[in-house]
Amino acid sequence: MNIDDVRKVLLLGAGTMGQQISVPCSLAGYDVVIYDINEDALTKAVERIQKILSGFVLMEKCTQEQADAALQRISITTDPEYAAQEADIISESVPEKLDLKVKVYSQFNQLCPQRTIFTTNTSTFMPSMFAEATGRPDRFLALHYHDVNVTNIVDVMPHPGTSKESIQLIKDFALKTGQLPIMMEKEHSGYVFNYMLGALLSAALALKTKNVASIEDIDRAWMGVTHMKAGPFALMDGIGLDTMLSVTEYLAEKNNDKHARKHAQFIRSYVEKGHLGKKTKKGFYDYT
Ligand SMILES: NC(=O)c1ccc[n+]([C@@H]2O[C@H](COP(=O)([O-])OP(=O)(O)OC[C@H]3O[C@@H](n4cnc5c(N)ncnc54)[C@H](O)[C@@H]3O)[C@@H](O)[C@H]2O)c1
Repeated sequence: MNIDDVRKVLLLGAGTMGQQISVPCSLAGYDVVIYDINEDALTKAVERIQKILSGFVLMEKCTQEQADAALQRISITTDPEYAAQEADIISESVPEKLDLKVKVYSQFNQLCPQRTIFTTNTSTFMPSMFAEATGRPDRFLALHYHDVNVTNIVDVMPHPGTSKESIQLIKDFALKTGQLPIMMEKEHSGYVFNYMLGALLSAALALKTKNVASIEDIDRAWMGVTHMKAGPFALMDGIGLDTMLSVTEYLAEKNNDKHARKHAQFIRSYVEKGHLGKKTKKGFYDYT
């Protein structure tokens, strides 16, 4: 298969990232199917995708006609058999849980055509951790997105068993969907930007959990000096505090890091109240 043969993109998971990834893919003319086990998540996703597309129109990244046509190309389903039919590329964005991702890859390996290339949007894991579960290690790699509302940077990260053809195809796919691929030469947890961002978020969490300064002042310091529109705590609200918790807990265990455990405990106090960040309108900040 080469890039001109790609027609249909299947997105697994209709949450924060599935919604976002659907936008550049559908705008580039691909048929996009979003699969989720939760019907409510799919309904909410359609509303959210409309908003993201409206934002793209406002930012003059596309016209209203192009946004309308893109929306027409997106369909949603809870039926895995239907979702998998004729899928050329899968982009997986289910929650950051190793066992869950392994289960989902095994399920879709049974359902998808042989040619389908599987990609993961994982934030912290490495593709080699799931390569066998996909049943097609040569056609599996990470294609990792950031917030499509603010950037078109994506990371392309193969594992040692990914074929050169698959890497090329996913690079071409990224370019064709208006993304700028950062090509990783080896597996590395956190890719490029997230690795650097992790250091910032961890420093911000340390300052707060050591009671050095308030959330607002920590963000204010970062924004005031760098002239960025958001500080580390607002960035975490955008990522989703449940996702932040999974990532922080995983790294705490992997590195046996007592500071990271303290950070996880702090984030958990928000998650337990259902304050997951922008998606629930409450997190470190109130968005109601
Ligand atoms: N949030 C971010 O800023 C961000 C950025 C880059 C990468 N990621 C990664 O993307 C992935 C998804 O993160 P998210 O923030 O979109 O999560 P999310 O919690 O917002 O959405 C996950 C979705 O997956 C669905 N789901 C759960 N089990 C499923 C299954 N078995 N099959 C299909 N769907 C299922 C849930 O119903 C939910 O709608 C994670 O691996 C995360 O690390 C997140």
